[in-house]
Amino acid sequence: MKKLLSLFIVICSVSFTASAQDPMGPPPVGQPQMKQTPDIFIPVSTRNTDLVFRVNGRDGRLYQAYFGPKLVNSDNLKQMRDAGHLAYATFGTDNLFEPAIRATHNDGNPSLDLKYVSHHFETIGTNVILNRILLKDPEYPFEVTLNIKTFADEDVIEQWVEIKHNEKKPLTIFNYASSMLHFDAGRYWLTQFHGDWAEEMKIQESELTAGIKILDSKLGTRAHMYQTPVFLLSLNGRSDENSGEVLAGTLGWSGNFRFLFEVDEKGSLRVISGINPFASEYTIEPGRVFKTPSMILTYSTSGRGQASRNLHRWAIKYGVLDGTGTRLTLLNNWEATGFNFDEKKLSEILDETKKMGLDLFLLDDGWFANKYPRNNDRAGLGDWQENKAKLPDGLGYLVREADKKGVKFGIWIEPEMVNPKSELYENHPDWILKLPNRPEHYFRNQLVLDLSNPKVQEFVFNVVDEMLTKNPGIAFIKWDCNRMMTNTYSVYLKDKQSHIYIDYVNSLYNVLDRLRKKYPALPIMLCSGGGGRVDYGALRYFTEFWASDNTDALERIYIQWGYSYFFPAISVCNHITSWGRQSLKFRTDVAMMGKMGYDIRVNEMTENELKFSQNAIANYKRLSDVIWQGDLYRLASPYEENRAVLMYVNSTKTKAVLFGYTLNARYGETFNRVRLQGLDPGRTYKIQEINTATEGRRGMGMSESGRSYTGDYLMKVGLSVGSASPLTSTVYEISE
Ligand code: GLA
Repeated sequence: MKKLLSLFIVICSVSFTASAQDPMGPPPVGQPQMKQTPDIFIPVSTRNTDLVFRVNGRDGRLYQAYFGPKLVNSDNLKQMRDAGHLAYATFGTDNLFEPAIRATHNDGNPSLDLKYVSHHFETIGTNVILNRILLKDPEYPFEVTLNIKTFADEDVIEQWVEIKHNEKKPLTIFNYASSMLHFDAGRYWLTQFHGDWAEEMKIQESELTAGIKILDSKLGTRAHMYQTPVFLLSLNGRSDENSGEVLAGTLGWSGNFRFLFEVDEKGSLRVISGINPFASEYTIEPGRVFKTPSMILTYSTSGRGQASRNLHRWAIKYGVLDGTGTRLTLLNNWEATGFNFDEKKLSEILDETKKMGLDLFLLDDGWFANKYPRNNDRAGLGDWQENKAKLPDGLGYLVREADKKGVKFGIWIEPEMVNPKSELYENHPDWILKLPNRPEHYFRNQLVLDLSNPKVQEFVFNVVDEMLTKNPGIAFIKWDCNRMMTNTYSVYLKDKQSHIYIDYVNSLYNVLDRLRKKYPALPIMLCSGGGGRVDYGALRYFTEFWASDNTDALERIYIQWGYSYFFPAISVCNHITSWGRQSLKFRTDVAMMGKMGYDIRVNEMTENELKFSQNAIANYKRLSDVIWQGDLYRLASPYEENRAVLMYVNSTKTKAVLFGYTLNARYGETFNRVRLQGLDPGRTYKIQEINTATEGRRGMGMSESGRSYTGDYLMKVGLSVGSASPLTSTVYEISE
């Protein structure tokens, strides 16, 4: 009876309310009445969000009827007069705005029309549901499956699309979005995260105006050097940490991406996300499936903080390899030695690793190549044999030495690249991406290998596999990628040059898939000349990423702040180096809000500095699970104040860690108390300052250390955090 009633309402709503001007309304007088079938509603939900699709009985197309906070009764949508916005708009028929998909059929017809065919859902465990909606062109054997995976507890939605056809010959697609979403908020603020080498994740917000705004990358490899594939979209008004409606989105794709925001004449916004279709028309063979990468989205009605916590919780469980596991603290030698080292120096650094209480020594660039030794960045890349002058006894010796000294050993590689001064270049000129009839174009004196070629994939797989087979003691890899694509041409792809940007990334994933099958647990750091490749497509294979080559602790506060909107602390590698001129304490405290490591000559430290560091490492190991798996609250933004304050709280609310940094201190400037968040108001917490400096300088102003307060007090009154001295910091361990 209830069902019959709602069917009645649906039919009524269509036939009584539509107007002649409305594309959704009845046909003009004189034209035949189409047979009316009832609308179908497809609700897709997480704990606090609803995305509702509607199949319009009049035209058989799929519309987005609603996306936003959870509705108590989504049945009310059935009374809405118009069907909504096309869920996956096509090109060539009647869509007047940017399409999600465009294709040309075998007969030259450049249009697509997609009608609903069926939908079903699969339950994947208790928290995850995969919804699949099949759409087909009524005139051509061309189909699109929209995939919407929901992560209920985390309030995260993952969207991707599968495209397939059975026309006689291959067919070209020109647009192929992963996700299309619509909003009717009237005003929209977009926050983007962009930068360059050593200045990643700069935050900029602007109001969207009528027309199109695009955030994208065309760099191919190291694709995120100028723009990370993430955004925040605030609806109706600006959002802040604790209030406002905000959508956070990120594309899981390590190549060219595009987010397109189009505000139409009525003030509606469509957001189209996916691979950048620029110069990338793609030919699909009959019967083959073209699968887009995943767009990952979360919607919060209580500001950016909640959106970040949703993404972090999702990432730890589903997005980052071994996100709920542990990580190794390490000593790296790149900043400390550059290319200039030998066995003796490395053996000393192994001792230093042990002395500091760190888990692993990471040997960086410069350990390989003989005909053209890798003594600088102009030679040797591609020749992955130990350099005999620097390492006469090979990597095996270093692995054994590390083992003897009670630490682990890790190594840097950059297997997708080649220097023209290398044996690899001499032996395999056709394995390199470069244009015929044009001079080679170098960036950091190197070129990109053509991973679309299966032989090159085999080579890259073997570089890693042979190294790990010969030296099973290798416990960590840093996988680098130091240039973007330019002058791009693949000998292997012949007449399909526009496939390269997509095939490259999928080929990289193929290699990583194979490696992960064989080495599922090995921690691997994702690096790309700093943070030039940071996305959830890659993080399925990597345990962590190198956020930036810029390790100046002041700069790092801004960079890490930026990443914190989208990526959990466990995935962000922060090293203490000599780059910035701040105190060791300040540099240490900044590195601690993430995955901490060192890149510094320990034997140049004073006794006090060494003791301070040993103590800080012990503190870090004790508290790392709170930082890695806890909930993040950003309390005072460095973009708004001369300080930055944030805290992590564990899931049982028994332990928290607060980091406070004074960036600058103007004459007479006072800092307000900071209200904490995420604690239990009914419990009492003890505040203990840790990492107290033994270098003659106290952390910051008056310390709250030793005091006890209720969670209620801490969240309503707060703590004083901030000092009159620039570049000082405080870390509080907060325990029930
Ligand atoms: C890149 C990385 C650095 C370092 C160098 C080595 O720039 O970001 O951390 O590994 O390569 O050449």
